[in-house]
Amino acid sequence: MGDKSLDNDAMDIIERYLYGTWMLQKKWSPQLLISDGEGAYLIDKDGKKYLDFSSQLVCVNLGYKNRELIKALHKQIDKIAYVGPALGLEIRAEAAKAFASIAPKNLIKFVFSSSGTEANEDALKIARLYKNPCYKIIARYRSYHGSTATSMSLTGDLRRTVVEYHTNVRGTVFAPDPYCYRCPFNLEYPKCGVACAEYLEYMIEREKNVAAIFMEPITGTNGVIVPPPEYYKIIREIADKYGVLLIFDEVMSGWGRTGEWFAHQRWGVEADIMTTAKGASSSYVPIGITATTKAISDYFEDHFFAVGHTFAYHPLAMAALTAVIRVMKEHNYVYHAKRLGGYIRKRLFELMSKHPSIGDIRGVGLFWAVELVKNRNRKTPFNTDEDKILGRPLVTGEVASRMRELGVLVMYWITHLVIAPPLIVDTDDIDRGIDALDEALKVADEKVEK
Ligand SMILES: Cc1ncc(COP(=O)(O)O)c(C=O)c1O
Repeated sequence: MGDKSLDNDAMDIIERYLYGTWMLQKKWSPQLLISDGEGAYLIDKDGKKYLDFSSQLVCVNLGYKNRELIKALHKQIDKIAYVGPALGLEIRAEAAKAFASIAPKNLIKFVFSSSGTEANEDALKIARLYKNPCYKIIARYRSYHGSTATSMSLTGDLRRTVVEYHTNVRGTVFAPDPYCYRCPFNLEYPKCGVACAEYLEYMIEREKNVAAIFMEPITGTNGVIVPPPEYYKIIREIADKYGVLLIFDEVMSGWGRTGEWFAHQRWGVEADIMTTAKGASSSYVPIGITATTKAISDYFEDHFFAVGHTFAYHPLAMAALTAVIRVMKEHNYVYHAKRLGGYIRKRLFELMSKHPSIGDIRGVGLFWAVELVKNRNRKTPFNTDEDKILGRPLVTGEVASRMRELGVLVMYWITHLVIAPPLIVDTDDIDRGIDALDEALKVADEKVEK
């Protein structure tokens, strides 16, 4: 006989046996018990419907119960669920061809894995093998690149700093962020001359041995930071001048979210390596992708390619990827995200004058952040990294809880909410999400300094 109390309450079981991620465990309990999902909506065990206004972790880009995706996965699992990466499989060819059809044209050879973290680990290893003996990587403070030792050594945010002794991987140096709202140089665009980009030349000259620059083209979790238009052109030029690779982490920003297949394409620059994950399978199954140029792929013709995973090119991931690309093309979701970007921008900016707790609104396509402050003039944040580490309540979390009561789920980090609905939403869905945000922001407004 099992333990009846355990049998009866899934929430208790989850809380008792499973760690909550990135938090004090005494603060952990699952927010909702989800029993179903359809389109952009999740449904809890009591039948209450929630608009998923952040596509979970900005990953369920095509929403729930997409029939095409489900069909493709069924078909593949009925045929064959796994064979090792050394064997050929039709679905591998289909997925490779489909991905090549939408990948930036200069990226011609790929290795597939099971997560954004792995995709970044692979990218780093490839870059360091290719650039050996150069090994240093320039990343940014406001960044997240994954949860293993090496990918975390690139991560600038507190998820690295709390475990720095563990991520003791040599060679990452951090560059200033193109975070115009709180410019690290206290300058203003355009008078700043995009100093945050130009500064990389100074870094490369003094650091020596720099192998690569590793960046989220639009910073995701750490605030949907869209750099000034010239930023990546300057960085690409500096990278070329010094023979440094430019690696774009499109794990969150890819897959149409910004109105381009991949965010960096909006600036007309090319990556030497691009990584992606999340939306590649719409998160129906785990996936990671690392894409490289011909120069890099040529190099490995006669140099040992020290990369591999049991789940590399996993048949189910390949089936999901192929279906995602087909569905996105058929429904023109990349263009849809671009078009809806104007609408969501308009609706978000309407909130600015009503809510003194809004410090900044920024984003593009269906990828936005609303940064909250307790003093708009001084840009004073409500919370700090320390609050998060010590498990103190976050004002962003309180706003998100109120939105949840109102039937809208939103992702939040220390200073901001991330608004990134599935690409399948329409203007009515956006209105529903923004109306809930409008109401929930009263929680933050009450805490603003008088
Ligand atoms: C930009 C970026 N890179 C890498 C990762 C890590 O991906 P995963 O959680 O799939 O390992 C994330 C996850 O949120 C991310 O946002």
